[in-house]
Amino acid sequence: MKHLLSMTDLSHEDLVELLDMAADLKEKRLRGKVTDLLKNKSIGMIFEKSSTRTRVSFEVAMSDLGGHALYLNTRDMQLGRGETVADTAHVLSRYLYCLVARVYSHDTVRELAENSSIPVVNALSDLEHPCQILADLLTIREYKNRLKGLKYAWIGDGNNVCNSAILGCAMSDMEIAVACPPGYEPNGKIVEQARKLGGRVTVTNDPLEAATDADVLYTDVWVSMGDEQEREKRLADLSPYQINSGLVDAAKQDVIVMHCLPAHRGEEISADVMDGPHSVVFDQAENRLHAQKALLLKLMC
Ligand code: CP
Ligand code: NVA
Repeated sequence: MKHLLSMTDLSHEDLVELLDMAADLKEKRLRGKVTDLLKNKSIGMIFEKSSTRTRVSFEVAMSDLGGHALYLNTRDMQLGRGETVADTAHVLSRYLYCLVARVYSHDTVRELAENSSIPVVNALSDLEHPCQILADLLTIREYKNRLKGLKYAWIGDGNNVCNSAILGCAMSDMEIAVACPPGYEPNGKIVEQARKLGGRVTVTNDPLEAATDADVLYTDVWVSMGDEQEREKRLADLSPYQINSGLVDAAKQDVIVMHCLPAHRGEEISADVMDGPHSVVFDQAENRLHAQKALLLKLMC
């Protein structure tokens, strides 16, 4: 694995190795054991969009591993004034050991990767959010002690996180049922790719059907970064797709409720479910740190 732009950049073996490494790093951190395997190494983190979890977890991951992370907001870079993506990639490759990038268009991370001699990590694009899914799979494995054979229900917008989840489920032998309104389906090519990997993917307009007997109920915001101009239409179209107690009751008794965050209580998830006993959202957010540490070590060591 040279870059992580899509979940498909990982083999099944890579994925299992990353999850095992992440679990080990988590346990070591709890015991206060430090490792400085990335000492004297710096990474750059290019952000075209806002972030709380991704930015902080990557920065802390690098610091914990003895290295350094530079936050590069495109508004402050020459990239924001017309310097090309390719030139930026060539230059940054001379200073850094890895580039993490959160971008509007997936083509931008592709272009960065094509022009970098260092690994490039997609920290969210309009197409995928693979770093999120690494943490999510780690969280599911912690709660369920396995991935294979579980049913994962995605309720809401078939967005970037959903696309990566579809691939992550296929690679982990989990069934995934996506419930979304017409016009909000996940990326067709990704669904096809997942099915080629042996994934069991269903897409329905019925949230109850997707949630029935689910081991995992998952949702994300109805208005992703970049979709703000469609806000009112999205809220109206997606309103029947809220994770609430009705869907929790349809799922397995020990269902876990997940959300990549930030959450909008009263929109994609009801407050009682978000803050209720099935919710694992903060463990999930913590796992961003452990999963990304594993990723950085795998890419840079
Ligand atoms: N889940 C996630 O990527 O959060 P941030 O946008 O805060 O990084
Ligand atoms: N789908 C959301 C995820 C935020 C972490 C977005 O792209 O804004």
